[in-house]
Amino acid sequence: MSDSKTLDNLSNETRAFAPSKEFRDQAVANSASYEAAQADRLGYWADQARQVLTWDTDFTETLDWSQAPVAKWFVGGKLNAAYNALDRHVENGLGDRVAIYFEGEPGDTRTYTYAQLTEEVKKAANAFESLGVAKGDRVAVYLPMIPEAVITMLACARIGAIHSVVFGGFSADALRSRIDDADAKLVVTADGTWRRGKPSALKAAVDGALAAPGHTVENVLVVKRNAEPVEFGPLDKWWHDVVDAASTEHTAVAHDSEHPLFVLYTSGTTGKPKGIVHTTGGFLTQGAVTHRDTFDLHPETDVYWCTADIGWITGHSYVTYAPLINGATQLMYEGTPDTPHQGRWWELVEKYGVSILYTAPTAIRTFMKWGREIPDGYDLSSLRVLGSVGEPINPEAWMWYRDVIGTNNGKNGERKENPTPIVDTWWQTETGAHMIAPLPGVTHTKPGSAQVAVPGISIDVVDEAGESVGNGEGGFLVIREPWPSMLRGIWGDVERYKETYWSRFENMYFAGDGAKKDDDGDLWLLGRVDDVMNVSGHRLSTTEIESSLVAHPYVAEAAVVGAKDETTGEAVVAFVILQTEPAEGEDVVATLRNHVGKDIGPIAKPKHVLVVPELPKTRSGKIMRRLLKDVAEGREVGDATTLSDSTVMSQIAQSMGK
Ligand code: WT7
Repeated sequence: MSDSKTLDNLSNETRAFAPSKEFRDQAVANSASYEAAQADRLGYWADQARQVLTWDTDFTETLDWSQAPVAKWFVGGKLNAAYNALDRHVENGLGDRVAIYFEGEPGDTRTYTYAQLTEEVKKAANAFESLGVAKGDRVAVYLPMIPEAVITMLACARIGAIHSVVFGGFSADALRSRIDDADAKLVVTADGTWRRGKPSALKAAVDGALAAPGHTVENVLVVKRNAEPVEFGPLDKWWHDVVDAASTEHTAVAHDSEHPLFVLYTSGTTGKPKGIVHTTGGFLTQGAVTHRDTFDLHPETDVYWCTADIGWITGHSYVTYAPLINGATQLMYEGTPDTPHQGRWWELVEKYGVSILYTAPTAIRTFMKWGREIPDGYDLSSLRVLGSVGEPINPEAWMWYRDVIGTNNGKNGERKENPTPIVDTWWQTETGAHMIAPLPGVTHTKPGSAQVAVPGISIDVVDEAGESVGNGEGGFLVIREPWPSMLRGIWGDVERYKETYWSRFENMYFAGDGAKKDDDGDLWLLGRVDDVMNVSGHRLSTTEIESSLVAHPYVAEAAVVGAKDETTGEAVVAFVILQTEPAEGEDVVATLRNHVGKDIGPIAKPKHVLVVPELPKTRSGKIMRRLLKDVAEGREVGDATTLSDSTVMSQIAQSMGK
């Protein structure tokens, strides 16, 4: 699948699939949701907030937009997120329902009912308080995909502490800068995790992060997961010593609807990651509503599995919060899809009877590459809704997902008569919850389109001047009205919030994505239009990687682009000008890749580093990344007439031996 083929497919794609009658008849959400939201948008959200959440104090105003673009939702309302995710289900007689089936990569398993998970969270809340963590304090979470990650997040929410989860694939330096930005008081981590059959360390990165003085961390709590040896310093305590000893009695107090729930760092167009702030009432409402409606959740019978890591927003909204708010049963898996064999995911679907699967296009494309014989060898008949998130899904991958996974009705080659609906969900760290997605019982889905705004959300595609484009036209994706789960700002930097999202178009939130309306007005996402890359659904900043590269003594200048990649969607390609000759025999490419890996994290390592004599720049000195992208993707180089030095592109081509 090349880029041009994908785009061709997108513009020529005419297939559409209506929901089956069988699915429609049992669907949780029907067209009445659109109608209700259309008739009274704020009234719709107010009703939903009261339906999906239990409020200690009811709210008096649905939306306060007087300080726009900083919103307040469900003003005056008070609630506790952990109580809503846990205690109330137990009080309602659902204590014995399974909340989490955990499967570790080595095959170890644990099951938590709602009653058991509630108890664990109460203990953790008591433990955190005993370590001096109070309402409003920040807690950095650097954990693998194990139940303690969910327990930690909910324990923070319970006491009103603000969690800041840092993906375990980020480096010690990246962890430290996030700890510092939020002045975290406690770090929760693990000795390590299991990755591709081997123990992989985490605690060492925390040690590295905290090695230099000047941080605010008072305690480091360490979960024992893989029993790798760890060094213990004065701040370190074992989770099993502190949490297991804590009382199981803990009363949740209600927090304001606008009390911050968490900070989650994401890459922007500049070098410095942004701490995206989400608050309580609105975030939980939209997460729970979309989790119920987009996935057609029937919590009594469904087994839901979202494969995202807790370190990303998908893990926050659709692993920790929404499923538990909705009283769902979910699977959590620690490891990689190919350990110990390439059928592991399908084996898990079969074993646990997973009915709703939520994953990323990059995973689907990987399974396509491995071949359909693998999933065909398992019984996937339990599946009834398939979700996609993180990047545009190309029509080939969409159709494969439907035909291979969505019609599997058993190991013997039986096929379902009605393939399971596919829901492609567009949203962002900043939006907190689904914004564009089909309702599987209503929408005629099209391979590659995220379709329509979810009920109560106002999406548009506009041109350079901010005017709505017509059907059949493309432009910039914007959000026209505030929404419940919207970010409330960037941690410690209100101005940057306004500048980043609200300055490009007047009174509209600019998402950074290009999009197209087709002839029916359905939405097709076309990727980022800014300097943000999307590698396997992970967001990376070109500028951040460039800053890292130029910080290396060998590098004079660097330009980074995201080049189309068959499996990962985009791949990081770096063009560098050297200022120092590397040491005799040194592999400079490997040196620079490893440097970025150490600086930011393995996920940011460039796939290719190309040493070039010059970089293409305009007369005003701006690097023309578009031309570098042409080179990186092996295309004919486009219009280069605005270059200050017209020979640069041929110099680059020569240096690459073309
Ligand atoms: C960016 C947000 C949303 C959770 C995972 C990523 C891209 C996300 C889709 C989709 C096309 C998508 C966008 C967006 N994106 N979902 N269904 N179709 N593009 O969250 O790291 O905040 O990244 O991911 O470019 O802006 P994130």
